[in-house]
Amino acid sequence: GERLDFRTSKQRLLVVANRLPVSAVRHGEDSWQLEMSVGGLVTALLGVKEFDTRWIGWAGVNVPDEIGQKALAKALDEKRCIPVFLDEEVVHQYYNGYCNNILWPLFHYIGLPQEDRLATTRSFQSQFDAYKKANQLFADVVNEHYEEGDVVWCHDYHLMFLPKCLKERNSKMKVGWFLHTPFPSSEIHRMLPSRLELLRSVLAADLVGFHTYDYARHFVSACTRILGLEGTPEGVEDQGKLTRIAAFPVGIDSERFIKALELPEVQDHMKVLKQRFAGRKVMLGVDRLDMIKGIPQKILAFEKFLEENPNWRNKVVLLQIAVPTRTDVPEYQKLTSQVHEIVGRINGRFGSLTAVPIHHLDRSLDFHELCALYAVTDVALVTSLRDGMNLVSYEYVACQESKKGVLILSEFAGAAQSLGAGAILVNPWNVTEVASSIGYALNMPADEREKRHHHNFKHVISHTAQEWASTFVSELNVTIVEAQLRTRQ
Ligand code: ADP
Ligand code: F6P
Repeated sequence: GERLDFRTSKQRLLVVANRLPVSAVRHGEDSWQLEMSVGGLVTALLGVKEFDTRWIGWAGVNVPDEIGQKALAKALDEKRCIPVFLDEEVVHQYYNGYCNNILWPLFHYIGLPQEDRLATTRSFQSQFDAYKKANQLFADVVNEHYEEGDVVWCHDYHLMFLPKCLKERNSKMKVGWFLHTPFPSSEIHRMLPSRLELLRSVLAADLVGFHTYDYARHFVSACTRILGLEGTPEGVEDQGKLTRIAAFPVGIDSERFIKALELPEVQDHMKVLKQRFAGRKVMLGVDRLDMIKGIPQKILAFEKFLEENPNWRNKVVLLQIAVPTRTDVPEYQKLTSQVHEIVGRINGRFGSLTAVPIHHLDRSLDFHELCALYAVTDVALVTSLRDGMNLVSYEYVACQESKKGVLILSEFAGAAQSLGAGAILVNPWNVTEVASSIGYALNMPADEREKRHHHNFKHVISHTAQEWASTFVSELNVTIVEAQLRTRQ
């Protein structure tokens, strides 16, 4: 069909995601402080500028009182954000429970929780009910703010039920859904008790997008094998209705990072870091403190490297910046103590009175500190056990034009498909392999570093977040025009 370019006009875009780009902290009955949220979804969507965008989502706090809700809605309005208020019980069952204890581990191949079967069945159902209820609340807010012609772009595993809720209320609404995590093999998705309902609901969208072709293929297989529908090269067909399914790999706002390196405050941070670690090579890890990031595996590989290379002890340091996340979910609490224990043991083993091999921080860094760290470090270590894309690897590459540091990247991150040729790809489960890759990276000659970096840099600056969003939205518009033409025929 005819390709229409909708990129030139400023289209109204309603972005619907569980997490708003800012999270609120209460400072009194009607006063709120807004802090930047952390995560790949927020980073990507903040890089999208060409649309007339409003965000709809949860501000990360429970606000039971009307005065507080009004005040927060007003504060958020200045950021073009619209809050969805979720009460504590819903957050517990929907966000901590169904989203982060069931869907998240399942989509990252960790599996379903292994508690007592009967208890799981009961709590599973109530968590799924809360999930559906939360999705209905998001749909209510979308409806309230929707204007004819808007594009409604739903995001991530928190909102798989939303396309159906929206289309049931208004079948003309243009609805897209994008998944920021992997979509697992259909053999994994099959395990989910609510597998049918979730697939059907996602298929209510006009366009469904994934980071990689593999995730899209897994989704189509799930629809054909589990729902018995027909897969076509365009997507999935159900009783004459086509849902378009395609890959849209996300990127970052690379210019924002590159420009930040010139700022005096970033240069100051860089100076301090260079002095602090003079004479040592510096390796960097930046992650949410999540089980999918393979942080224990990364640290154990670093230990193995020190064990096998005594000449490197005191000459290399690992900075692991791990911001706590989803701290009400027990698995995440266990991970924090596990990581602390390993770091303590290794520092005790290889540290001296004046230096330790691992600096582990449980916090987030502000943008300027983060850019400085990306720019001055010699090697970045991304060891995700599974990861939808992993934007940290993109950010590192964007900041390395002068140093040309090495990226060690898990083959299980979506980014391995785009940065694979420039990075050293590793299997994070293989501690020996990661340890030897660390040695390879630290010893890599300058010309090889330059070649690898150049390859990745070219990719990162030419596949931006803006391009990702424009492509998705324009594809959604085209899909709808084509569907209209088909029904008229
Ligand atoms: P995920 O979406 O799973 O968190 P990504 O790597 O795609 O993984 O995105 C993480 C985003 O969060 C990046 O933009 C990164 O800069 C940011 N981030 C992660 N950890 C930290 C941290 N400790 N301090 C500041 N920002 C962080
Ligand atoms: O990008 C993956 C992701 O799960 C986002 O969906 C989410 O916003 C982010 O990580 C951070 O997690 P949370 O919103 O649970 O703090």
